[in-house]
Amino acid sequence: MPNRADFILRDDVIFLNHGSFGACPRLILEEQRRWIERLESQPVLYFRELMHHMRTARQALSEYLGADAANLAYVSNSTYGVNVAAHAFGEMLQPGDEILTTDHEYGACDRAWKQYAIDKGAVWRRIAIPMPAPSMNELCELIWSGVNDRTRLLFISHITSPTGLRMPVEELCARARKAGIITVIDGSHVPGHIHLNLSELGADFYTGNCHKWMCTPKGSAFMWTSNKYRSTLPALVVSWGSDIPTVGDGMFVDENEFLGTRDHSPFLTVPFALEWMRRSDWEEVQRRSRALTSATEAQLAAIDGVVSIRAEGADPMLQLGTVLLPENVNVVEMKNWLYDQRSIEVVVHEWLGRPMLRFSVHAHTSEADLEALVASVRLYLGTITS
Ligand SMILES: Cc1ncc(COP(=O)(O)O)c(C=O)c1O
Repeated sequence: MPNRADFILRDDVIFLNHGSFGACPRLILEEQRRWIERLESQPVLYFRELMHHMRTARQALSEYLGADAANLAYVSNSTYGVNVAAHAFGEMLQPGDEILTTDHEYGACDRAWKQYAIDKGAVWRRIAIPMPAPSMNELCELIWSGVNDRTRLLFISHITSPTGLRMPVEELCARARKAGIITVIDGSHVPGHIHLNLSELGADFYTGNCHKWMCTPKGSAFMWTSNKYRSTLPALVVSWGSDIPTVGDGMFVDENEFLGTRDHSPFLTVPFALEWMRRSDWEEVQRRSRALTSATEAQLAAIDGVVSIRAEGADPMLQLGTVLLPENVNVVEMKNWLYDQRSIEVVVHEWLGRPMLRFSVHAHTSEADLEALVASVRLYLGTITS
């Protein structure tokens, strides 16, 4: 199993925010470097062979995610993927049509929907998710209660960014499919974190980052669409894609992967990263991380005034743990104190008026890192309440 020594994280920082941007191990960075050197040593040959290498990289990720490779395209990040969806599906909506979503979505994605759909007259119906959050079954009923005869599209995170909650997208996609509602899923936190089989999930559109939990280089993400839409979704950037007869991987792939000259090394590194994950006993990495997250969240929730974001009996842990902090916490001061005084990098922020702390656990996280977090939070909260 990989550990801290496999990463290039600074020794003087207790790094408990893998969730925001991931962290890439040395071996994977070396593989990316090999691709960059291959490019710079004979750029023309590299671009001549690029289609072939991209196809291999796409095939590898598609197999890992249970997808048909013709339905999956590499993109730089999931913000880009959500923009493609908001642009394409936004065009299909009429004024008054409703998009159903939650109030725990990622800000950049909310903005994409605003630009491409809401400003053109679509209604943005946001379901408020209670905190602490109930079980996935209850969340499903709550979100579905927002459906009415004008609902055309459901946009939802598979795992929420601000609160680290898993959403019941499997059941929501199944219900939406029966009701003829388009589903767009933001799976930024999913690949490498929880099981994903895109063919079985049955969404209409899905986007996810590899750079977070799969630990690939920044700039490696994907978007996927169902057979129904892969030949009709307009691209966001007009380039050579659909015009290059030698590419021939289908419009969805060609138009979205070939966006002028750019660095493809993050995508080309994905097959190596998948192999590294296989060699690393990834299921054990996930199991250990979830167990540590669960224990740490419970220890934090045992501190006076701290509450887990999951109601008792709610659903299984992820590698993201979140606790609600006492209302009088100044989140900027607490975050700065944790970093400046204890060298702990962790998310402390306010979401919908609630101060909260979100920590991440991955292969590089040690038990000592998490003990330091619990002790520091206890000490800090003790000083502000005394
Ligand atoms: C749920 C969610 N959506 C979208 C994003 C945006 O990801 P990116 O910045 O890679 O586009 C994030 C990033 O943290 C996220 O957590």
